[in-house]
Amino acid sequence: MSHPAMRPRRTRQSDAWRRMVRETRLSPDALIYPLFAVPGRAVRHPVSSMPGVSQLSVDELVKEAKAAAATGVPAVLLFAAPAEAEKDPRASAALDPKGLAAQAISAIKDACPDLLVWADVCLCGATDHGHCGHVLPGGVIDNDSSVETLAQVALNYARAGADAVAPSDMMDGRVQAMRRLLDREGFAATPIVSYAAKYASSFYGPFREAAESAPAFGDRRSYQMDPANAREALREVLLDVQEGADMVMVKPAGPYLDIIRRVRDAVSVPVVAYQVSGEYSLIKAAAERGWINEQAAVVETLTGIHRAGADLVITYYAPEVARWLAA
Ligand code: PBG
Repeated sequence: MSHPAMRPRRTRQSDAWRRMVRETRLSPDALIYPLFAVPGRAVRHPVSSMPGVSQLSVDELVKEAKAAAATGVPAVLLFAAPAEAEKDPRASAALDPKGLAAQAISAIKDACPDLLVWADVCLCGATDHGHCGHVLPGGVIDNDSSVETLAQVALNYARAGADAVAPSDMMDGRVQAMRRLLDREGFAATPIVSYAAKYASSFYGPFREAAESAPAFGDRRSYQMDPANAREALREVLLDVQEGADMVMVKPAGPYLDIIRRVRDAVSVPVVAYQVSGEYSLIKAAAERGWINEQAAVVETLTGIHRAGADLVITYYAPEVARWLAA
């Protein structure tokens, strides 16, 4: 009877061993928590497709941000859903220094100066047509005029106090345009976190309820990436780094772990992965039915995303995970 000489199970036999040889460790330091601002006061409006997530008026948003900061989460990612009546083709609400997003950014910074506020920069939440760029007659999304507006939106958010701007529109050349404008206007120190490889994904469905940003016609496939493409993701990421992105993002996360790994190996800037609304809601829905252990599933997905190469992860579970890690 021969026994195997190599026995990987030796360092797996107790929790102490497993802790020592663990290669990937979750930390609250690597988590970013998305928040949704809506108009009004004392509004906590649950997003039906994302149990546990609510649209918050600025006063409530500040409370939520404080609570998240108290768990050790270092950053929030802010989205704004202005009133329908304020949406127009020009995305005026996003350009307004007194607009909802700008108000929310400065309110959070006033209340929790040490918490980083990343401002999502896009036109879809502020346009009446719900597309991420300007729409030409015939329904074509115009790249270059969109880029100009997006840069102005980024400047508006930087002026409001955003610690980083995060363009999620997927127009070509927007990182360079933003960098130039920010530098020229005195915001050379404001980082750009680029949604560099953002796929046209079915997993954004629940988010569009939260951000009230579903396109009124068509879809986003002329600007977001085809889920079938990997080399193209590297091209997008390298372009954004060249244009001056300080961090690059892969989105969604779970179905794109190969992309995360390839991006991690190709660039030296930090790589951020976004565990998007649909990824969150799938786990929630199964957990609510008692079909899955929520905490174990969340920790496993986030561990997988880190193991694939993401340095940072945006997740709706951020404060909860930070609490679990502290317990
Ligand atoms: C807007 C934007 C979207 C998400 C982040 N920014 C939706 C979209 O592109 O339609 C998705 C986030 C999520 O699903 O959690 N450009």
